[in-house]
Amino acid sequence: MKALVLSGGSGTRMRPFTYSMPKQLMPIANRPVLEHVLENIRELGVSEVGVVVGDREPEIAAVLGDGSRLGLELTYIRQEQPLGLAHCVKIARDFLGEDDFVMYLGDNMLPTGVREIAEEFAARRPTAQVVVQRVADPRAFGVAEVAPDGRVTRLVEKPERPNSDLALTGVYFFTAAVHQAIDRITPSARGELEITDALQWLVSYGATVLAREYTGYWKDTGRVEDVLDCNRELLARVEGAVAGLVDADSDLTGAVVVEPGARVVRSRIVGPAIVGAGSRVVDSRVGPYTSIGRDCRLLDTAVEDSIVLDGASVSRVPALRGSLIGRSAAVTSADAGSAHNRLVVGDHTQVEVAA
Ligand code: TTP
Repeated sequence: MKALVLSGGSGTRMRPFTYSMPKQLMPIANRPVLEHVLENIRELGVSEVGVVVGDREPEIAAVLGDGSRLGLELTYIRQEQPLGLAHCVKIARDFLGEDDFVMYLGDNMLPTGVREIAEEFAARRPTAQVVVQRVADPRAFGVAEVAPDGRVTRLVEKPERPNSDLALTGVYFFTAAVHQAIDRITPSARGELEITDALQWLVSYGATVLAREYTGYWKDTGRVEDVLDCNRELLARVEGAVAGLVDADSDLTGAVVVEPGARVVRSRIVGPAIVGAGSRVVDSRVGPYTSIGRDCRLLDTAVEDSIVLDGASVSRVPALRGSLIGRSAAVTSADAGSAHNRLVVGDHTQVEVAA
C-alpha cells in the first residue's frame, strides 16, 4: 500500500498565518501537523508517500526533505491550483499506479491512529473504505449514510438536512478502482473534483464502499480554535523532560518539557507545557496547555492555553490566554502611564483587548 498526503489547498480559514506558511506546518506540541500525519502513516507500515503540494512546496520540502528522517520515502506532486481532493488523486495517478492507497488530508489529526481500520481494509479489500466519526452537527461535513452491515449507501457533501451523523474524517482507503470513478465525475458547483462524488459514483455502480468508525480524538486543524484544541489534546499526552536550564528560583509542575538550549529564569511553568529549544522564559508564568516554539523570548508575562511560534517575543503582558502568536511576532504592553493600546496588525488578524 502507498499513501497520498494532501498538503496543498489555500488555507483561507487559517489567515493570517497562511499568508506566510502552509497550515500543514502549524506546530502542534511543537511539531508540524504534517509530521504527526506522516508518523501515523509510518505506523501503518507504509513507506512510499506521495505529498501533494501547492505553491508552498519549497517550505514543506525544506521541513520534510526526502522523508528519510521520518523513515519514509517522499515524492512531491505539484498541484498548480487547489481543484479538489479527487483532483489530487488524479494528478498522483503515475505515482499511485495500480496500488491500493491511503489518502490522508495533511491538516487532519487522528492521534490514536487508524491501524486497525487499515488492517481491516487490507484483509477485506472493499473497493474503498472511509473513516467516519459521529458528530453533533453533520451539516459542515461530508456525511456517509451507512447500512447496518457497514456498507455506505449514500454520500452527501455538507447536507442541509442530514440523514446520518457519520462525518467523513480526513482518511480514506482506496483500491485502484477509484481512478475510474474520478475519470467519470465532473467538477462540483464550487469548481472542485469532489472525492465524495467519486465515492458516490462507486456506490451507485454497485462497488463495495465500507465505513469504519474511528472513536478517538479527531481534529481538522483548519481554523485557529481547532489548532489550539488539538494542541491541548496532544500536550496532555506529553511526558515531562528537562534538557534546558531551569534556575533555582523557578518552579515546574506537571508534565513540562524544556528543550535543549532553553532557559527558564525566575518563572513558574505549569504542565502540560513545552518550552522550545533556545527560548528564554524570564519572570513569567507559562501554562497549562501552552507550547512555546524555538528561540522565543518571554519576559514578565503570563500565558496559558496558547501557542507561541518560533522567534516570537512577549513582554510585560500579564494575562494571555487562547492565543496563537505568529513567527517572530512581538507582543508587549504599552509604556507605563499610557492609557492607549497601540496595534500594528496585519490583514485578517484577530485581536481581543481586555476592556
Ligand atoms: P481544505 O481544508 O478543505 O481546503 P483548504 O486548504 O483550501 O482550506 P480553506 O477552506 O481554509 O481555504 O483541504 C483539506 C486538505 O486537503 C488540506 O490539507 C489541503 C488539501 N487540499 C489539497 O491538497 N488540494 C486541494 O485541491 C484541496 C481542496 C485541498
